[in-house]
Amino acid sequence: MNINRMMIAGAGQMGSGIAQTAAAAGLQVLLHDIEYARAVRGVESIRTMLRREVDKGRRTEEEAGQIIERITPTAVLGDAAGADLVIEAISEDIAVKTELFRRLDAICASSTVLASNTSSLSITRLAGVTKRPDRVIGMHFMNPVPVMPLVEVVRGLPTSDETTALIRELAVRLGKNPIEARDFPGFVSNRVLMPMINEAVFCLYEGVASRDAIDGIMTLGMRHPMGPLTLADLIGLDTCLSILEVLHVEFGDSKYRPCPLLRQYVRAGWLGRKTGRGFYSYE
Ligand code: CAA
Repeated sequence: MNINRMMIAGAGQMGSGIAQTAAAAGLQVLLHDIEYARAVRGVESIRTMLRREVDKGRRTEEEAGQIIERITPTAVLGDAAGADLVIEAISEDIAVKTELFRRLDAICASSTVLASNTSSLSITRLAGVTKRPDRVIGMHFMNPVPVMPLVEVVRGLPTSDETTALIRELAVRLGKNPIEARDFPGFVSNRVLMPMINEAVFCLYEGVASRDAIDGIMTLGMRHPMGPLTLADLIGLDTCLSILEVLHVEFGDSKYRPCPLLRQYVRAGWLGRKTGRGFYSYE
């Protein structure tokens, strides 16, 4: 089986980034969101990214135009019927995700692979609501998708070797390095990353150091490309909190307890870059 046509469900930051990467690799992409205007906004954000690449001399106008032409915004989930692969990149809510997988399972051909970009939820659980559990897999991209070279490939308990091989091949076609992890909470990426971010927030909460000092220590001292608080703002504080909650509940270990300050920021709607304010201000 060859993957040529795909649908990305969810036209937010991650979904748009995946759509851009796939279209740049020559695939036909349907970018779905529940409201057509949101799907169109996703395409517009890709157009802006491509314009920057043209301005930097990395791409010609013509190439950028061809990439955009391969992306079709839609609000009709039934359009997934013609797709070889659907990658789900909607909000990190297990109830909403399982409902979407149920609907996609009814719409798509039995050969279609259903992938999830979830950052911590169980692939096995998503597979379990479909009649094709062997064709459900985790395809976890990193933010910003067009730049980061990793796809964490997550095998659910029933995921087949064929599905895994297909998705690994696709990741390479997209210019990414696929690395496999088993289906346990947070996989490897967020099981390691989120406790570090949480600990940085605890340092701020307890007054160990200022925001800038915490980030400065980690960038200058550990050569991280951005400090943990800046990175949390990039990922989204709501996403960080929900991943920590999954780790905390599923492992039942207090070492994953989300910092109360993180929770308070989320309650205030200070979610990071996407809302213009998180640990930093972006207005
Ligand atoms: N989309 C597309 N391209 C982007 C971008 C975006 N959102 N942000 C930056 N870039 C591009 C820039 O255009 C630039 O491209 P050129 O080199 O071609 O000019 C390049 O990336 C570098 O950008 P900058 O020079 O502006 O800044 P930088 O050197 O500091 O790099 C960064 C930015 C790549 C984001 C870097 O800081 C970095 O690697 N940060 C860590 C990111 C990270 O850890 N991501 C994983 C988060 S965890 C996750 O996503 C998983 C999860 O489940 C939560």
